Amino acid sequence: MSNRGFFHFSALPMSTRMVYTMTLLVLGTGYLFAMLQVFFSHAGLDGNPKNISAQDIRIAYHGSENDTRLVTALKGPMAGMLPEAERAVIFKWVETGAKQDTYEADVKPIIGERCLACHDGSNPHIPQLTSFEEVSKVVARDTGATIPTLVRVSHIHLFGITFIFFIVSSIFTHAYMRPLWLKCVIIVLPFLTILTDIFSWYLTKWIPGFAWFIIASGALMGLSFAVQWIVSMWQMWFYKLPADIEECGGVLPVIGRSKD
Ligand code: HEC
Repeated sequence: MSNRGFFHFSALPMSTRMVYTMTLLVLGTGYLFAMLQVFFSHAGLDGNPKNISAQDIRIAYHGSENDTRLVTALKGPMAGMLPEAERAVIFKWVETGAKQDTYEADVKPIIGERCLACHDGSNPHIPQLTSFEEVSKVVARDTGATIPTLVRVSHIHLFGITFIFFIVSSIFTHAYMRPLWLKCVIIVLPFLTILTDIFSWYLTKWIPGFAWFIIASGALMGLSFAVQWIVSMWQMWFYKLPADIEECGGVLPVIGRSKD
């Protein structure tokens, strides 16, 4: 019988189910924070901070046709670093040609007060903004995330997300689901979408239309996380296995019985 070796949640000791439940609770919370992080770092790149759009994703990876790196940063991850009015001063300075005299008069004091705590050159991974020449370098056209940034985030995601889904889908293997192929698809999908998500970042940097692949990968990954989480939690505590399955491997006392 193909159910040999399958132990339904109901066959697992209470303590094991508690480990699984608490792990799912914390990972579920982690997933929500990951979504918030995606929102905060992308919403607003296209000028509308209320939602996240395909245009936001295109700008994040491919860059913006109209905006400079400075402006994109100030609409996105750096938006919270300064008050709206001061941000408008910098936008205006960029629009009017980013000249040195207006820089000295209007922009330098703002940057000195709001930005140099981090951008004073002490961190070699972020642009230094201590002089007109350095600030001018980030007033070049925004070409999206740089390859070193993508590589850094890629390796973190590849290792980190694989751990998360190894844990979640190992728990989910104890769920009873028919047809069986559907269960297999739900297990395989997040691992595949990690790969398609990350490869799509590089494709989007090159061809902006691939932003839709990033969005589809993220949506499918989230969907299978949600299904695995909900089905596991529900079957762990509330679900009664069909009687015929219980007979052939759903519960522990059956091990070793040669009923198949
Ligand atoms: C608390 C520290 C901190 C402060 C304050 C700060 N930044 Fe940043 N900034 C960062 C970090 C960290 C990054 C790299 C973020 C990343 O790569 O996602 C960054 C990245 C940038 C970038 C580069 C974006 C790119 O295209 O790679 C620009 C431009 C920038 N900041 C401008 C500013 C300006 C202008 C201010 C002041 C209004 C400011 N930052 C204030 C930490 C800071």
